[in-house]
This record gives sequence, structure tokens and C-alpha cells, in this order.
Amino acid sequence: MAKDFSLMEDSNRSSNPSIHDVSAPSRRQILRGGLGALAGSFLAPLSAVGGAAALTGCATLGVGAMKMGFKSVGISTADSITVPEGYVAHVIAPWGDPVGIAGQNHAFKYDASNTAAEQEAQIGMHHDGIHYYALDGSKRGLLAMNHEYVEHGLLFTDGMANWSAEKVRKSQAAHGVSIVEVQDKGGKWEVVNPSKYARRITSNTRTELSGPVAGHALMKTAADPAGRVVLGTLNNCASGITPWGTYLTSEENFIFYFNGGDKLSDHEKRWGLRKGGAGYRWHEHDARFDATQNPNEPNRFGWIVEIDPNNPNATPMKRTAMGRGAHEGATVAVTKDKRAVVYMGEDARFEYIYKFVSRDAIKPGGAAANASLLDHGTLYVAKFNADGKGQWIALTHGQGPLTAANGFADQAEVLIKSRQASDALGATKMDRPEWIDVDKQGWVYAALTNNSNRGGDKQPAVDAANPRANNTQGNIIRWKEDNDFSAVTFTWNHFIMAGDPSLERAEAKGSIKGDMFSCPDGLWVDGRGLMWIQTDMSTSAMGKGDLKNFGNNMMLAADVQTGEARRFLVGPAGCEITGVTETPDGKTMFLNVQHPGEPASEQNNPANPRAISNWPEQKSNGRPRSATVVVRKIDGGIIGT
Ligand code: FEO
Ligand code: CA
Ligand code: CA
Ligand code: CA
Repeated sequence: MAKDFSLMEDSNRSSNPSIHDVSAPSRRQILRGGLGALAGSFLAPLSAVGGAAALTGCATLGVGAMKMGFKSVGISTADSITVPEGYVAHVIAPWGDPVGIAGQNHAFKYDASNTAAEQEAQIGMHHDGIHYYALDGSKRGLLAMNHEYVEHGLLFTDGMANWSAEKVRKSQAAHGVSIVEVQDKGGKWEVVNPSKYARRITSNTRTELSGPVAGHALMKTAADPAGRVVLGTLNNCASGITPWGTYLTSEENFIFYFNGGDKLSDHEKRWGLRKGGAGYRWHEHDARFDATQNPNEPNRFGWIVEIDPNNPNATPMKRTAMGRGAHEGATVAVTKDKRAVVYMGEDARFEYIYKFVSRDAIKPGGAAANASLLDHGTLYVAKFNADGKGQWIALTHGQGPLTAANGFADQAEVLIKSRQASDALGATKMDRPEWIDVDKQGWVYAALTNNSNRGGDKQPAVDAANPRANNTQGNIIRWKEDNDFSAVTFTWNHFIMAGDPSLERAEAKGSIKGDMFSCPDGLWVDGRGLMWIQTDMSTSAMGKGDLKNFGNNMMLAADVQTGEARRFLVGPAGCEITGVTETPDGKTMFLNVQHPGEPASEQNNPANPRAISNWPEQKSNGRPRSATVVVRKIDGGIIGT
């Protein structure tokens, strides 16, 4: 089973070329970094606030070179975390530790013999997007975090041998989201256990569909004839946060969990369904994942799911108005009139970048007051023109080609078939959009991780926004909306063309300032305005060819004004670095290490789990475990300064 299923996803054969906290209670009142107080209650716990600030009249905030006061760390292939001089890092919440649910304190078993029922109360595997929600400022809070997928060679003592319903259930239980309470205990952060907030949301947790697609004929199944209730969420990749205090998790490569038949419909083909799926084998013991028996079940995945981390009893909601996709994330900005704008990419070769603009303004009153805000609005897809301008084209039923005659019976069908709609609208096919974030000047950045199938003797050819044939290195593209985040036109350019300048990647010459990196994936602008870039070079390509000089995956800080990138952290062997958040004071950073120990084959051998990595514990009888890393400055200062 491949580590990154998006590498296999290439089903677009169409022919077309922090928000201002207006709602959540008890958020910080001062922007850190010496920028001083912002007006009134219009404040910003969220990363996108910077952009919102710039376009809502707060543009006098600091402009100019961002202070990066740390000395960059070198390339490394060590099975450990490297941080700069003056910093310390330690691990919390590794896969398999108790999440903190009272009465379900099951210890991790190093031979991976924990049961499915135990895994349902333990931290999931393969950590990804993450966000800190303050309970007591920067001393105690909740971490909401995604568990994208699992590696069966590590999840079970004997891997996929003796495949059973129990194994499927454990695999499903290691997916989804964890809500973990964490506390600073005298300079060292620990998981609070038990905690009344502790929660696991798995691929079997009851979720509800909301918005235009709920109840649609294409969502109805034998188990759910009303088409409104789905069991679980899966392949939860990047994350987002809302100004009203909720967490957005995205369902990325959902299609690979489903078994398709010998004969696939055009719709199934366009979404990449295939016989046998991608090796999860859930369908062998759970008919829900057999699309030959339950052809509508795949339509019930690929949504942005909204979770209230502060309410362990709240039902996760699949917000269908924002469209279906192999969603990488959901990044919220706020318009001048306080509507929510959500940026989303589909991480698959030649798929698209979207934004959703809510119909209504965000209301004071937190999650309860905004419970249906994301159910009403307009979804757009991006078209990047060669002249540096671009358009957002609405996915609105009845407009242009989105008619019943073309296979879109109603708005719900446009949203379920967003890829086909975007094909028909002539949107720009991108080089695998991953994380998106907004800086303090209102520029929106998207990491385009790589796409080795573009150009040269392959189609589609290069275009202005995706200018590299055989793009093994990736780039970060950015755009600025004309006037407000709700605009339908924008200006764009490339922020950094990634790569190794010594290997004559002509496009990277002069673009890499400071430390080189490849395959940008995670991307986050912190409260101070400093950008953090996380890399995901695939282990099948790592250390060879264009990637031979990069060592392990890493995280860098980048100055959005100058484009200088500086390497801040290198991860252990075989990992990806993905997901990052900080406490409101900026003094504690949490980031995730995903799939340490992944071999080039992308499949761990259960008989030799320590072949590549034994991170983090290096126990003689241990195994590599995805985990959260806590980074602090020894002098107690703000991270990155
Ligand atoms: Fe799950 Fe596209 O990374
Ligand atoms: Ca990964
Ligand atoms: Ca990613
Ligand atoms: Ca990736």
C-alpha cells in the first residue's frame, strides 16, 4: 500500500486546458511579536487572520523582513529530530497511547497486539493536520489532530496475514481524528489523562451530512435510506480552523478505500475508483467499502468535516456546500463583511484549487451560533491565466455548462461531481495542491507538491501556473484577491520554485533563497506572519536523482517578504513532517511526524518493524510510531525569533 495515494491518483482526463475572531470566546487579545494590540475584539487566534487583517483595514501591521533569529540546521539522514541551537523538542501523543478517555486507559503494546476496541480509545496512526485550542491560554489546551491513514505492516503484529473483521475494525479505528487535552507541566507538555474532552473520531463514528447534498438520491444507501448519516471519516489530511472555534478536517484520498467492479461508470472512473481499491482490503469484511454492492457509499466521502473540539458529544458534520474532492485541507479567511471564505486544494495530479464563500456573515456566539454557516454559499474553482491574472468560476447549477443536459441534475449533483463540473468550466489543472494559507498582506499561498506526469512527452503540457515538465520538485504559488477574499478575480505569481540549484533545475535558479528544499506540502503562516513549510519527498524517490542531496523530510521557516527559507527542523528516517500549530503566545510549537520508518517500497515488513526507524523511543522491542513533537526555545522565547 503506497504511502501517498495521491501519487497514484491521476484520473483527470478532461480536455480543458486566522482569522479575525469575531465569534469564539476567550481568545487572545494581543497579537504577539511586538505588533501591539489590534482594534477591539477583532482578533486572531487563527493563521489566516493576517490575510483577513490586511484586507479589512489593518494593513498597517508590520511589513518588511521577518525576524528569523535561529541558525539553520543541516540536512540529516539520522533517525532523530534535529532542531536549531537553543531549542528543545520532545514527543507527546504517539500512535497507540491512550487518548485520555476515562475508563479506557489501554497501554500501547509494543508488539502491536492492541485490539480494535483498544485502538478506538488510543491515539490514531499517521498524524497529519493539527491545531491547538486554548483552554487556559498557552498553558493548557486541546490538540485536534488528523490521522491520515495506517501502515498495516506496523499496525499489526503479523501485518495483513490472517486478514479479519477484527483487523479491519482496528484499521478503521486508527484513522480519523483525536481530540487530546495537553498541559504544560513545568516546561514539559503532557497529555491530560483522563480528560472530559478526550475523544476519538474514527472511520466508524456517526457523522451527519449537511448542506445541499444531504438527502440526495446519490447519497442514499441500504443502511441509510435517507442519505443523511454516514459512518466515519477517513484519510484525514490537512486541517483548517474556523473563527467560531471549530476544526475542519478534510477527507483526502477516500476513493482508494473502496472496491470497484470490472465495469466502472464514467463518474467512478473520474474519481479514480478501481477494482480492489489500493490495498486496504476493508471491503473484504465491511460491505460498506465494496462499491459493487454499495455504489453510492463513495459519494459520502471526500467532504470537509466540521468538528467542535470543545464538545465531545457534538456530531461531526460533513459540509457538502463546499464540494467534494480528494481534499487536502480547508483554510478560512474572512471578508470585509465578515463572511467566511474557505480555500481548498485537491491533492491529485491535474486536479483543482477551490474556494467557498459563505452566504452569511459570521455571527458572535461561537460554534452554536454558526452551526449552519458553512451550509450556504458559493463554491468556485480557480483558473490561472498566463498574464498573471486569474478568475474564480462559480460551480453553480444552471450556469454555463452545469445543466441537466450535461449530467448535473441539480446543485447537489454539481457538488458531488465537482471534478466533472470543474472540467466543464475549464479550470486550471494543478500540480497536486496541498496546504494553503494566507499571510498578513492577504496573499494566499498553495503548496504544489510535485507532478512527474506533466509535460515533456506527457499530457497535459506545462502552463503558466504549472511551468515545469516532469515536476519532481514542486513549488509554492500565491495569489492576491482583487479587493476582498470574496473577489472573483485575482493576481498570482510563484513564491518559490523548489529544488536543488546544484542539479541545474533552471526554474529554481534564483528562486531558492537560503536553504533548499523539495516537495513542499505542509504550509502555515504563524501569528507573527512567519511562514512554515513542511516537506513530503516520497520515500520511493528520497535520496536519489533530483532528491539525492536533501536527506530526510524537514520543516523550514520562510520570510514572505524576501522569500528566504531557513531550515528549522529535520525529521527521523522515513518520515514526513506535516501539520503545525502553536500556543497563542507563540512559545510552544506542536508539529506532527508521520510514518517514521517508511521504506522505499512504502510497505513495512511486520517481521522487521525497526528496519528503517525505531523513532521515537528506540526501544529494543519497539516500532516506529507517528507522533506529535513539542518544540520550545530554551530561553522561553517565541519560536522562530
Ligand atoms: Fe495527505 Fe496530500 O497529503
Ligand atoms: Ca504522508
Ligand atoms: Ca499533505
Ligand atoms: Ca504529500
